[in-house]
Amino acid sequence: MKLTNSTTTLLTLLFSVFLITCNGEANKQTASASDKEVTSAEENPDGIGPVKELILPPTIDEELAQRGGEIFLNKCSACHKTDKRFIGPNPTGILERRTPAWVMNMILNPEEMVQKDPVARQLLIEYNGAPMANQNLTEEEARAVLEYFRTL
Ligand code: HEC
Repeated sequence: MKLTNSTTTLLTLLFSVFLITCNGEANKQTASASDKEVTSAEENPDGIGPVKELILPPTIDEELAQRGGEIFLNKCSACHKTDKRFIGPNPTGILERRTPAWVMNMILNPEEMVQKDPVARQLLIEYNGAPMANQNLTEEEARAVLEYFRTL
């Protein structure tokens, strides 16, 4: 009788442990499911910022590109060079790696981009925590710089 009793106690104990473990597993699964949601929301190839979508016309607007080149020289070339990696990345060929809207958002909204966009966050690490500077360009100025990038 005594043996049966302790066996019952043991079984109850084991069952409780089993329940707790299962519960833990279930919680873990819910957590990772919501993690995934956050990740896929963050994995927007257009980044985070004022520009939601940007489709470039097939031909380059030379006048706009020239204006963009001047802005680049004044406000960006302290950190970006078009022939090599510098304090920031070389923008040559950037549209082969990023969408036009992503580039615009990186120029217009770098603080949030390096915090929330996975690609920009990775860049910040790669560039040893030197952050991309917000040069307070207007959307039109950023668009001109983007056009300039197309000519590189
Ligand atoms: C104070 C230095 C600094 C200035 C000024 C600066 N940037 Fe940056 N930029 C960076 C750094 C550093 C990065 C790499 C990402 C990071 O570390 O946040 C970067 C990243 C970028 C990227 C992403 C590049 C890629 O390969 O994806 C773009 C686009 C960019 N900058 C454009 C500009 C433009 C346009 C200007 C001028 C309006 C400018 N930056 C001014 C430092 C700067």
